[in-house]
Amino acid sequence: MLSIDLSGRRAIVVGVADASGFGFAIAKALSEAGASVCITTWPPALRVLNKQISLGKLDAARRLGDGSLMSFEKVYALDVAYDQLEDVPEAVRQDRRYDDCGDFSLSGLVRQFATDFGHNALDVLVHCVANAPEVKKPLLETSRGGYLSAVGHSSYSMVALVQRFAPLMRPGGAAVSITYVAGERVIAGYGGGMSSAKAALENDTRVLAFEAGRRYGLRVNTISAGPLVTRAATALGFIDRLIEAHEHSSPLRERLEAAQVASVAAFLASPLASAMTGTTVYVDHGFHAMAWAG
Ligand SMILES: NC(=O)c1ccc[n+]([C@@H]2O[C@H](COP(=O)([O-])OP(=O)(O)OC[C@H]3O[C@@H](n4cnc5c(N)ncnc54)[C@H](O)[C@@H]3O)[C@@H](O)[C@H]2O)c1
Repeated sequence: MLSIDLSGRRAIVVGVADASGFGFAIAKALSEAGASVCITTWPPALRVLNKQISLGKLDAARRLGDGSLMSFEKVYALDVAYDQLEDVPEAVRQDRRYDDCGDFSLSGLVRQFATDFGHNALDVLVHCVANAPEVKKPLLETSRGGYLSAVGHSSYSMVALVQRFAPLMRPGGAAVSITYVAGERVIAGYGGGMSSAKAALENDTRVLAFEAGRRYGLRVNTISAGPLVTRAATALGFIDRLIEAHEHSSPLRERLEAAQVASVAAFLASPLASAMTGTTVYVDHGFHAMAWAG
């Protein structure tokens, strides 16, 4: 039987703060496939996540096919805005939500991961982070700071993670991120530079696939997912209308579930996809193929 088998492999999923997002669903799919899964959580969301886990509020969502609860091998605090701790502004250092988070920079994460597991200990890197402070503003009104923040959080963070984690990855490693069709076609209202960030993420997928493929043998792919109600998507202010529009126009007129994206992520992370790299894989019920559905 052909199955996705990730037993003996370790994954890190960057950007898990609750059970609604793609990150959580991907962590679950990777766990179902037998991988050990670490996650990273944005410091402002970490206390709430830990509390929800300890109170059992995520138990239903964590339940795996064999009846056990998905457990995270380690939960790291990470703010992708910072390459190293010295870059963190005073206001953020004083923010109590960052208390007790240790070195929550990208370099700090990778250092801590290497201390915890060694230098040859990672197989799968998953990027599920997006953040744009001006996402509700049309591009025509987006400030330089808002635009650069969107690209820094949502695209450069993938480059920074691959730079730092690829040298720690075992042969056959894979990296996966999540993009959106707004990176290649106009989705009205997907603003603040987020469309530019997704275009960058997709282009970087190709370049990273080439560079990290040649240097480390790493595969790099991105999934262009359909719309889903998540915390990040809710910030757009019109996710429900977007979901309706996708359902109206897609060849398969169904509502997307996070698990449908997660199973493709697990496939891309697995040896079954060993010849796939540099690709954008659409998991959107075919919406991307349409111009007019009548
Ligand atoms: N939901 C959708 O409709 C949709 C569609 C296509 C693509 N995507 C993409 O999927 C990915 C995951 O988003 P999601 O929709 O599952 O929402 P989500 O809110 O679950 O995930 C976004 C994550 O980014 C984290 N984050 C924000 N700022 C951060 C920072 N500075 N440092 C570290 N983490 C930070 C948040 O805490 C959250 O965990 C994103 O790349 C998003 O653009 C979402």
